[in-house]
Amino acid sequence: METDFEKPYVIGLDMGGTNSIFGIVDQRGTIKAQTAIKTRAYPDVKDYVKAAAEALQPALDVVGGIGQVKGMGIGAPNGNFYTGTIESAANLVWSGTVPIAELFEEELGVPVRVTNDANAAAMGEMTYGVARGMKNFIMITLGTGVGSGIVVDGKIVYGSDGFAGELGHFVIDHSPAGRPCGCGRKGCLETYCSATGVARTARERLANCDTPSLLRKIKPEDLTSLDVYQAAEAGDPVAIEIFEWTGEILGRSCADFATFNTPEAFVFFGGLTKAGDYLMAPLRKAFEENILYVFRGKTKLLVSSLNGSEAAVLGASALGWE
Ligand code: BGC
Repeated sequence: METDFEKPYVIGLDMGGTNSIFGIVDQRGTIKAQTAIKTRAYPDVKDYVKAAAEALQPALDVVGGIGQVKGMGIGAPNGNFYTGTIESAANLVWSGTVPIAELFEEELGVPVRVTNDANAAAMGEMTYGVARGMKNFIMITLGTGVGSGIVVDGKIVYGSDGFAGELGHFVIDHSPAGRPCGCGRKGCLETYCSATGVARTARERLANCDTPSLLRKIKPEDLTSLDVYQAAEAGDPVAIEIFEWTGEILGRSCADFATFNTPEAFVFFGGLTKAGDYLMAPLRKAFEENILYVFRGKTKLLVSSLNGSEAAVLGASALGWE
């Protein structure tokens, strides 16, 4: 589909396992209007695309309608920049290969580009956030899953097939006790260090000890990482230990990842970063204790400066429309 580069706006979509956030973005990277739908509520992807178009209408009206839009950028789990598809994403309800670019092009009548959601967040950070000016960094997103965008010499690494940088599926526990992952394997980093991984840890800890905890007031199946954070804030020892354990796993893993491209920084983004130092302090400690000596003291561990899903919405909107 032809792109009319004269048109002033781009639609950016940050598709998470739970929420899909849409932003209408202008040429300076200002989000003019936003809307959201629940990703999981549509077992058929065609219904998802229809619901998205409906939800987008009032946001599009703010900028004068779809006629003002030159294209759409989508950041999605297992999103493939080369093919415009989503393939077998662990945290999405749609199985197999989903031609998401084609479906949105048919629905909205504008050209659509796709990348991985964490790559989109990396683009957003590189263009508008804490990674501005950096040529080598690794973005780590901590949401329903754990995503990563690896930037080398100023470019996102896509690899031979468009899927490079799936660090959330780096196996950190090779023993039979490794947690089952949505990808079908066991012991993946995301089963421990995602928001859902933290809730899982909380359920396990509460079942295996009898330490009094505020978290016991919540039904195990309803526990979220936000509950764990709030309990930590109230001084709950079980909650604090959960973040210490999670931070240590993530810090060790990042120390290993650093061997790959000697990043200037890791940028952490997503719901779990709200835990602040409960997560970041043990993460920093484990990172410094486990980093290869030649890299020691060289890598910054930063938290995204962009609000909510802004990084991914902005990054998705910057997929080559400038
Ligand atoms: C997917 C990644 C995605 C991440 C965060 C992982 O399970 O494999 O592609 O970036 O979740 O959504």
